[in-house]
Amino acid sequence: MTTRAEQGQGAKQPHSYEEFTRRPFYIGINRETIRLVKKPVKYAVDIATGTGAMITQMLEQGLLIRDFQVRGYDIDESALKAAKSAFRNFDGQMLFINAPAENIPLKNGWAQLVTFANAIHLTDAPAATRESARIMDYGATLLINTAYETTHAYPEKSAHSWGILTALARKAARENHGLNDIPNPVPLRQYSVDDYVNMLVSAGLSDIEVYFHTAQMDKEDVKAICRYDEFARIALPDVELDLAKDLLVGAVEPMLERRKSDTIPRGWTIFKARKLPKAT
Ligand SMILES: C[S@@+](CC[C@H](N)C(=O)[O-])C[C@H]1O[C@@H](n2cnc3c(N)ncnc32)[C@H](O)[C@@H]1O
Repeated sequence: MTTRAEQGQGAKQPHSYEEFTRRPFYIGINRETIRLVKKPVKYAVDIATGTGAMITQMLEQGLLIRDFQVRGYDIDESALKAAKSAFRNFDGQMLFINAPAENIPLKNGWAQLVTFANAIHLTDAPAATRESARIMDYGATLLINTAYETTHAYPEKSAHSWGILTALARKAARENHGLNDIPNPVPLRQYSVDDYVNMLVSAGLSDIEVYFHTAQMDKEDVKAICRYDEFARIALPDVELDLAKDLLVGAVEPMLERRKSDTIPRGWTIFKARKLPKAT
């Protein structure tokens, strides 16, 4: 007979990002991103794949032909483990590999499609863009989405409310836990649309299209991102992780009450770029 503790040890612990990837608004953004590719492909790469949410979209939207090959790269071993488990039925067709976006262990020109979702702002973006272009075949497509473009991330003057979220969490950290010296959040909004377009052009890509999508995030959407390890680490650096998540989650409802709204908007920017077919 197994004890409850033994069962617990064997039970699969979901990755902290998985709850967010199941939120309908987030699925909608990735669906809209993938929809920009019109023709199914055989060779696809998902950079900074996390738990593989974009690969789920590729499958659901019929973007992969029957004998496809997919490669997912990330630097988070626990996310890769979750992705391997989620896609175990595709053994032989999908590989999940620990590698940074800036240095992908794949030969030049392998991919017909490269996706890079909700992650470029965490990487060395110019280097990661060059690396994306390097692994793309002629005629291949690159899709990037990010919620950290400088001018579109916080629509409808929502920057203030997003600031209130971390400010309330910090206040609770100070007052209830004596944490007075929490470093400032790591800034992620570094690049504008023009900066990203210039990076894509410098990397040799063209036919660039840019789309904007404003998502209204409800209370559960915001709590889901607050429970993501990486978000909590960036918002409340140096605070013990579980405490940081609790403080942020605890600040969600007061933040929405102050907004006098059930939702907070977030602006996503989606880029599509192509590596032009080789001139004959
Ligand atoms: C917010 S998650 C997005 C995951 C996935 N693309 C999705 O849309 O569901 C960001 C991911 O970027 C990864 N990441 C951060 N910096 C990276 C880097 N330099 N190279 C590769 N992956 C990176 C993190 O480990 C994390 O899994």
